[in-house]
Amino acid sequence: MFSPRFNGKAAIVTGGSGGIGSAIAEALLSEGAMVAIFDTNQETLQKSVAAFSTSGSMVIGEVVDVRDGAAVKKAVDAVAEKFGRVDILIAAAGGSLGTPRDLNEISEADIDLVLDVNVKGTFNCARAVIEHMKKAGGGSIVTFSSIGGRGASPVTGVPYAAAKSAILGLTRRLAREVGADKIRVNAIAPGLFLTGRLQGMFDALAESERNEVLNAIPLKRMPEIDECVQPVLFLASDAASYMTGTVLDVNGGRLMPS
Ligand SMILES: NC(=O)c1ccc[n+]([C@@H]2O[C@H](COP(=O)([O-])OP(=O)(O)OC[C@H]3O[C@@H](n4cnc5c(N)ncnc54)[C@H](O)[C@@H]3O)[C@@H](O)[C@H]2O)c1
Repeated sequence: MFSPRFNGKAAIVTGGSGGIGSAIAEALLSEGAMVAIFDTNQETLQKSVAAFSTSGSMVIGEVVDVRDGAAVKKAVDAVAEKFGRVDILIAAAGGSLGTPRDLNEISEADIDLVLDVNVKGTFNCARAVIEHMKKAGGGSIVTFSSIGGRGASPVTGVPYAAAKSAILGLTRRLAREVGADKIRVNAIAPGLFLTGRLQGMFDALAESERNEVLNAIPLKRMPEIDECVQPVLFLASDAASYMTGTVLDVNGGRLMPS
């Protein structure tokens, strides 16, 4: 009989009521996982949990700011208590968070925000889940880089590029540290996925910049959200059991690093 890929597994999805995170949370639930969604946006969090709470599904939502290490640890411990284990972390909370792209408009507060949420937030969540993954006999962490951290994207600015590059270093170093505990750590580096927030950013670009993005995509189209969700689920699943410290570029070929 067909057994869902994530039956009996417990997953935490940070930023899990945002565009990509909520699609990942929904997909994990549909494949049998118990899912805890961490997000700062109480309204979207409540909506996501209500929408995903179908009969038989195990989903909880927690208002957690990933920048706050103590709050993250408390929330992760509570998830482990509730679900009995933690197997998967999808660290999707992040983004350029409404900060300006252009150098002269970026304040110190902007760069602090982008680095704190993306880098420190990913670190806080990864560190908090590791002790529980060790108890569960292993686990999988998927971090969120970006095409903007793999190369110089015209869409996002310097703080975002710095943060998303830093996440790659974090991913590699952490993978080395926890591999012996059967915990895998991999990054996803999406190209441009037009979630609500980014549709606005994309529409605000000059036509020449929009054309620059589209013309540079060999597949010549914008992606569906599920085309990011499936590679993330692959990294989280046993199908990627011998992959750690890697990055998957999911960008329609817009950037092909050697
Ligand atoms: N959409 C894209 O094209 C794209 C491309 C490359 C990388 N990414 C990355 O994918 C991830 C998800 O992107 P998205 O487009 O779904 O973004 P989104 O803005 O739709 O969702 C992000 C979610 O994170 C939450 N969040 C923000 N700050 C937080 C904090 N301090 N603690 C907890 N939650 C917080 C937000 O409330 C939101 O629900 C981000 O890390 C982003 O940088 C997205």
